[in-house]
Parts: sequence; C-alpha cells; structure tokens
Amino acid sequence: MSILEKLQKIKAEAEESIYLQKTLHDLHQEKAKYLGKKGVMADFMKMMKDATPEERKELGKMSNDIKKAISSYIDEQKQIIEELEINAKLASETIDVTLPGKEVKRGSIHILTQVIEEIEDLFLGMGYTVEEGPEIENDEYNFEKLNLPKDHPARDMQDTFYITEESLLRTHTSPVQVRTMLRAEGKPIKIICPGKVYRRDDDDATHSHQFMQIEGLVIDKITTLSDLKGTLQEVARKMFGSDREIRLRPSYFPFTEPSVEVDVTCSNCDGKGCSMCKGTGWIEILGAGMVHRNVLEACGYNSEEYQGFAFGMGVERIAMLKHGIDDIRHFYTNDIRFLKQFK
Ligand code: FA5
Repeated sequence: MSILEKLQKIKAEAEESIYLQKTLHDLHQEKAKYLGKKGVMADFMKMMKDATPEERKELGKMSNDIKKAISSYIDEQKQIIEELEINAKLASETIDVTLPGKEVKRGSIHILTQVIEEIEDLFLGMGYTVEEGPEIENDEYNFEKLNLPKDHPARDMQDTFYITEESLLRTHTSPVQVRTMLRAEGKPIKIICPGKVYRRDDDDATHSHQFMQIEGLVIDKITTLSDLKGTLQEVARKMFGSDREIRLRPSYFPFTEPSVEVDVTCSNCDGKGCSMCKGTGWIEILGAGMVHRNVLEACGYNSEEYQGFAFGMGVERIAMLKHGIDDIRHFYTNDIRFLKQFK
C-alpha cells in the first residue's frame, strides 16, 4: 500500500470511529488516538524521515489536510454529543404538573394576640386609642406616682424582678396611665394599653410570673363609677356572651378609690367550684376603680375639676374563660397541638 493510500485509510477509519462516539470522554480518547503526541498521525510523520525532500513536502501538506479533517470531525461530533446531553437533561427535568403539590405549613396568630386584637377592636369602636409603654419601668412610674410610696405595704402584692434599685420589670400596665397623663398635660384621655407584665408569683394553673394585661384609662370632667361599670359589662358581654355571669366586688388598690374587682363564672365547672377556680366558682379577670385624687394630682390634673376611671385586665384569664383553657401555662409552653386549635 502506498503512503498516500495509507493516509486515506487513516482518514477513513478516523471518520468512522469519531462519529460513533457517544460521550465527550470517549471522544477525547479518540482525539488523543489520532492527533496526540503518541497518536497515529505522529507515528505517520516519523515514517517520513526516509522520504526525499520533494516527497516530504507533498506528504507534509497532505498530512496537515488530514489532521484538519480529523479535527473538524471531532468538533462536529463534540457539538452533536453536547446537544444530545442537553436534550437528555431537559427531558429528565420536565415538570410533571400532575404531581400533588407540597403543602406549605402556615402558622397562626397566637391566641393571646387574637384576644388582645378582639378587645382592641371593641375599645376602638368606643372611641379609645391604643397606647404602649416600656416593660422596663422606673420605680417612680410603676409605684410612686400611683400612690404607692416606698415601704407602702401594698407593694407586697406586686413583688417583681429588679434591674437596679430604681428600675424594674413592670408589675402591671398601670404605669402607662402615669406616662399618658404626664404627656396629656391636663387634657381629657381615653386610652387602652396592652402589654407584658412580670411578677414574682409562683406559677400555677391561673398564675404566671409573666403575663399580659390591658390597661384602660378615661379622664374627663364628668366620669363616673357607673360609666366604668357599663364599660366593663360591655367587655364581658362581648368577650363571654350573655350566658356567663360577672360580678363586681369591692376591693383595694392604692391608685383607685373606690376600687373593684371583676369576676366571671368559671368556664371549667360552670360556677360549681373546681381546682381551677379554687372551689369558688369565680375567676377574677380584672381590677378597676375611680382614679385616686393623689394620682391625678401627681400627674398634673386638678382633682377638683377632673375625674377618671381605670381598669387592668388579665388577658390570659380572659382567654382561658373564653376558650375553656384549664391551665395558664399552655400559653407559654409552645405545644404546637395546643396552638393549632386556635387557627
Ligand atoms: C392590677 O394589676 C392593677 N394594676 C389593676 C388596676 C388597674 C386596678 C387600674 C385599678 C385600676 P391585679 O394585681 O389584681 O391588679 O391584676 C389585674 C389582673 O391581672 C387580675 O385580675 C388577673 O386577671 C391578672 N393577674 C394578676 N396576677 C396574675 C398572674 N400572676 N398571672 C396571670 N394573671 C394575673
């Protein structure tokens, strides 16, 4: 076989085998086989050392043409393989629109927030605005301006967590009364204030060391105890319906005079007496009264001219009575089974 025929044979073999390759890896091997340093074409060039300068020139040109041809087969096959691979990938990634979707688990608003929002709605409808106050409070606002000077025995009812001698975690939302009155500079007020409060109370079914209150304060020239009673009855009717009884009983708070506490019949035993209501059939939900003249004066109001009423309700107790929840600790232990019931 002449050298020319040999070259033609190499070209034909290369063309056939290159177009048979199915992967880029195999194609690469094929490229090395024909065009690599130790490949077929390199071997062929070695054979040319015995040729005359004339022949060498001729053969050099031919072998270059063949190398170019082999390179173009490789490029062409490379493109074909890449296209096949992309098509295979696209086919494997097709979206099956008939597959059932993955459920996105949605949370819900915490039951205490729901109750607060319900009460806020009620009061906004009666013309109140919503205020806020800090949870870290001064002794002055939490106690002193509320007619509870240092060493007043009633401070024992609300022991708390102290940060320094003068700052503490507020024991009730009543300091917001003080803040609002000082800001209002002697003008009428009609606000509620929801928020967290803290006490050094032992935790049990109806007590928690951290709980929520909603404070209410109305100050105007004519504001009476019957306005307070009517307002509280409206709250009870809205929150518990007409089948649950409420009662007002005389009580004592240093910042109101007279003072009352409001109880609702226990939802757990329907007023018969159980461990939740400690056998009394009633659960206390709020404290209230007519703002004490000392508080009015300490906060810049002329007590001869202005009167007011105030109340502070326990949100957890209201939620418990409304939804028949038997233990206050459920609100804070974050058991998903409990929380899910209030979607
Ligand atoms: C007060 O905190 C007064 N500041 C309320 C007030 C405001 C009276 C304005 C007059 C005028 P008392 O300590 O009773 O009052 O608490 C009010 C309500 O908070 C209670 O009726 C009860 O529902 C709730 N509460 C009190 N202590 C706890 C506790 N440890 N855990 C859960 N709820 C509580």
